[in-house]
Amino acid sequence: MQKKDCVILGIESSCDETAAAVVRNGREVLSNIISSQIDIHTVYGGVVPEIASRLHCENINGVIRLALKDAGMTFSDIDAIAVTYGPGLVGALLVGVSEAKALSYALGKPLVGVHHIEGHVAANFIQYPELEPPFVCLIVSGGHTHLVIVRDYGEFEIIGRSRDDAAGEAYDKVARAVGLGYPGGPKVDKASQTGNPHAIVFPEGEVKDHPYDFTFSGLKSAVLNYINKANMTGTEINVPDLCASFQYAVVDALVSRTLRCAKEQGFQKVAMAGGVSANSTLRKAMEAACRENGMECYYPAPVYCTDNAAMIAAAGYYEYQKGVRSGTDLNAVPNLKLGER
Ligand code: KG4
Ligand code: ZN
Repeated sequence: MQKKDCVILGIESSCDETAAAVVRNGREVLSNIISSQIDIHTVYGGVVPEIASRLHCENINGVIRLALKDAGMTFSDIDAIAVTYGPGLVGALLVGVSEAKALSYALGKPLVGVHHIEGHVAANFIQYPELEPPFVCLIVSGGHTHLVIVRDYGEFEIIGRSRDDAAGEAYDKVARAVGLGYPGGPKVDKASQTGNPHAIVFPEGEVKDHPYDFTFSGLKSAVLNYINKANMTGTEINVPDLCASFQYAVVDALVSRTLRCAKEQGFQKVAMAGGVSANSTLRKAMEAACRENGMECYYPAPVYCTDNAAMIAAAGYYEYQKGVRSGTDLNAVPNLKLGER
């Protein structure tokens, strides 16, 4: 007998994207709607939490309606609702969580609270229908830089982490300092393409006795010092060279630790997740390093690297299959740790 399909409505509102998606059986995206607030936050040079919450409130109903329409479905076709409940901005998270709870109650459909980072990792399941745990995953977003072993669906062993800034945060700060604006990652990525990665040697931070941990604060300070010095001496800054040199140091740190982890822990499968994994240089470098070492490299399409709700529905599917259910007491948890519920 054929197994019945399981259709999940995913909702994501942890930062500055209001998103809803419909995903069948954890891996087949039937719709993926993302309403980005970037244009508005750009004016302020970063995400303004209060504005983010208000915009989520304004947009969330329309985004969900569109996700259902694009999937050719109505609420009655949905088996369960998955929603990001942390980590993220509390006011922003609360909009998605309240919406999901209201829908779950009104429709009588099960609710599954999802960890945002678990969602990022699950984006790989959408991209690669054959990918199954265990594998090593480098998680690089605006708030997280984690090296983890994905033991099973939703089961993570954290092997390394950033001691200070997340990789995305470092990108955003450097972009702001050279006047590229917000969001910095894609802008530094683009500027780097015409720059020389060896023009300026920036230090690649190391955490003594913790070979899998990352540190980006020294690198960030070195870049800021370089800019200040140039400004004081009236020297013109070559922005593409500076971006490419900064990026070289970041990518080298990310790739070398990930490969070391995969080799030492005996894994052949290496995945990436989170906004920074959309970075073109990082993707190429990780792919090349994996090829050299006879490993498989996985990373989601750019639209599934940055925040979206399809990844939340995908992660929600696996939690739902395990029997996880959230009640109407589900709350936003701004600093939710990976692996916690
Ligand atoms: O995963 P994400 O969309 O949101 C969080 O969960 O934080 O990640 C956002 C981060 C931002 O810091 C952004 O600058 C960075 O991902 N990012 C990139 C690229 N696209 C987004 N960083 C480097 N290169 C990119 N192409
Ligand atoms: Zn994210």
